[in-house]
Amino acid sequence: MLEDTSFAIHPGNNTATEAIRFCDIGNVIEFKRNSQGYSFRCEKVHVVVCFYHPSIVRIVMNPTGKVDLNDSKSVVVEPKNMPITEKEMSDTILLQTEELEVAIRKQPFRVSIHEINGRVIVREKERGMAFRENGEVIVCKEKFTTDHYYGFGEKSGFLDKRGEKYEMWNSDVYAPHNPETDPLYQSIPFFMTLRQGKAHGIFFDNTFRTTFDMKSYNNMYTFRAEGGQVDYYVMAGPTPKEVLEQYTFITGRMPLPAKWALGYHQSRYSYESEEEVRALAKKFVEQDIPVDVIHLDIHYMNGYRVFTFDKNRFPDPKKLIADLRDMGIRVVPIVDPGVKKDPEYTIYQEGVRDDNFCKYLEDDIYIGEVWSGKSAFPDFTEERVRKWWGDKHVFYSDMGVEGVWNDMNEPAVFNETKTMDTAVMHRNDGNPTTHRALHNVYGLLMGEATYEGLKEQLNGKRPFLLTRSGYAGVQRYATVWTGDNRSFWEHLQMSLPMVMNLGLSGVAFAGPDVGGFAHDTNPELLVRWTQVGAFTPFFRNHSAIGTLYQEPWQFGEEYEDIIRKYIKMRYEWMPQWYTLFRQASERGLPVMRPLFMEYPTDEKTYNLNDQFMVGDNVMIAPILAPAVTDRAVYFPEGGWVDFIVGKEFEGGKVHLVHAELDQLPIFIKKGTAVLQNPYISNKEKQGTDMTMHIFASQKDATYTCMLYDDDGETFAFENGTYLKLDLEIISTKDQVAVEVKRKEGTYQPSYQDIKVNVIGLSEGQHVIINGAKSGKQTTINL
Ligand code: NOJ
Repeated sequence: MLEDTSFAIHPGNNTATEAIRFCDIGNVIEFKRNSQGYSFRCEKVHVVVCFYHPSIVRIVMNPTGKVDLNDSKSVVVEPKNMPITEKEMSDTILLQTEELEVAIRKQPFRVSIHEINGRVIVREKERGMAFRENGEVIVCKEKFTTDHYYGFGEKSGFLDKRGEKYEMWNSDVYAPHNPETDPLYQSIPFFMTLRQGKAHGIFFDNTFRTTFDMKSYNNMYTFRAEGGQVDYYVMAGPTPKEVLEQYTFITGRMPLPAKWALGYHQSRYSYESEEEVRALAKKFVEQDIPVDVIHLDIHYMNGYRVFTFDKNRFPDPKKLIADLRDMGIRVVPIVDPGVKKDPEYTIYQEGVRDDNFCKYLEDDIYIGEVWSGKSAFPDFTEERVRKWWGDKHVFYSDMGVEGVWNDMNEPAVFNETKTMDTAVMHRNDGNPTTHRALHNVYGLLMGEATYEGLKEQLNGKRPFLLTRSGYAGVQRYATVWTGDNRSFWEHLQMSLPMVMNLGLSGVAFAGPDVGGFAHDTNPELLVRWTQVGAFTPFFRNHSAIGTLYQEPWQFGEEYEDIIRKYIKMRYEWMPQWYTLFRQASERGLPVMRPLFMEYPTDEKTYNLNDQFMVGDNVMIAPILAPAVTDRAVYFPEGGWVDFIVGKEFEGGKVHLVHAELDQLPIFIKKGTAVLQNPYISNKEKQGTDMTMHIFASQKDATYTCMLYDDDGETFAFENGTYLKLDLEIISTKDQVAVEVKRKEGTYQPSYQDIKVNVIGLSEGQHVIINGAKSGKQTTINL
């Protein structure tokens, strides 16, 4: 029987390698509707098909028995009952929502999904779902010649993942991150396909080691897992933005960050004493360089024991934190999961006493070596352990800490496998499961514990959490930095597609270590990287022990001046950032975007790795190599203006652009606007002037945009204390007309009006504000 329906998968594209035989799930024997969806009894397994939205369908197959629909650590919604039209034909069953048609061929079970009367979204031909006796599961889908693939979380290499093969297994990788270095710290088993301008997404919700293969076969791609269920969601798009909205509808959206978290962060492994941290903060103020956060790496602790300070090096952390806070600077300490095995250490004592640590089935606590030496690891799969861990953060929040940095949470362990023994049995809230199955969610659950704990303790203030490891849904709790990169130009280059793909995986708030972590940076690299960092969502300079210090002033005045200029620019753009992050928290859209997100039918954008957009109208084309001061820039359709020098560029073409070391090429789409607010000082940060620069278009153009603002640090916005202005800018050859379409919220900002500055008006073009003729510099009253 098995032989009849089995097929071979070659582990690579080399048919000479030994093939792995998978067993097809076989023919449909019976199907019925039940409360949650449709159940298909096939020859060898059960399959469930259910809907979450007219554009989102979930398909689940369990090779060992009953399908489990409630097994997810990352999905935040339930299947929805909605009108479904069912049609049964001799060979096919059709399930139709308002948007989609799911066609299930019966002999054998194969699924194809189309738009109603429209394009094919996914299709299975010879191969479909299958499994092996050892528990592996696989899904095969047709690969179209015009397919381009994106997402997959945190991956090195280029933006377009066609022709790549990736694994998901959260790993601590100190070795240089090369295009072939895979996997890294995050597992986000989600990807988006862009095919002839239309997009759809697939989220494979399986926490085992998974593999996505868009390389080995000409006509199909596969995704497979070492165990568990086939459990995937197809999101129909059809635009890349809609795919992201649909994916984050399923896995949740990022919380609105505090404004300070969007500022500049300074870190080092490690600032080792209170004295050093005070001197560092003072230097930022003296040098007039903005900084919002100083991170404390592992040396602040007493022998690397989490929830402690070293009393000699940090005699009064509470006072240190308060004094820095007075200067406008916050302190974010690192917290690793490893708890030192020390019978005189309260956290270890409590963890053992309350049975909070990961254990083997036979009851021994798993002990692994990390910075703190032999250590135990909290079992974050248990709700009560997450609560315990979250509560422990009172230690920090009582000292005035509002943000925490989670590292080593793959979890990383100093051994051959670099992680916890996969035989460890997590308690998993009454459903014991091995580490092999739950490895990829350890960091996510630690993030949940930390974020929720801090949120409870901060009296209405928004917590900030930075994490190295995570799984789909990590955006609900944490910002992601891309781990141990190096001070290589290649790593600056790589960080662009990496952060763009993280954004395309639901993680809008992400960034690399600016300047590079390992290896010595150099002044030119630091300058160019800071220019990029000022326009990437998370902006932190961090470097490793033993490397050259890379704070903004380390290489002399000439470089410091440029670095200061770009860090200040970050703050001048804060209203723009904040509005974009509000959109990310409401719709799941990335802040830093590949160009194809705005121009999905323009093939030139499909693998554009060295340019990116901030929002929908700002394009950054940084210099990413040494001694380069000229570069080719691709401009998509429309007119573009250099933000600094005002030079105009015609779209649909490549232009050569010049940029000396102190210049970052920033372009604004004509007919659109950006919001600015001056930087004042470290203590005050933002000024009270809000300016909207409008870049006039002489061609007909309509642009809608938003200004979002609130107190920047509390959850009062959830009760309506915010300001949201929806604006429309209509350009014609005679005029640029700005209209406030809608004002929402009760927040009273420190500015009374918005200064409007129209740039590039042609002769005879008038400015109209809310219907009244006006000058090119004018105001909109709030
Ligand atoms: C590894 C992290 O990736 C790095 O950022 C940190 O500095 C070291 N651990 C030490 O904590």
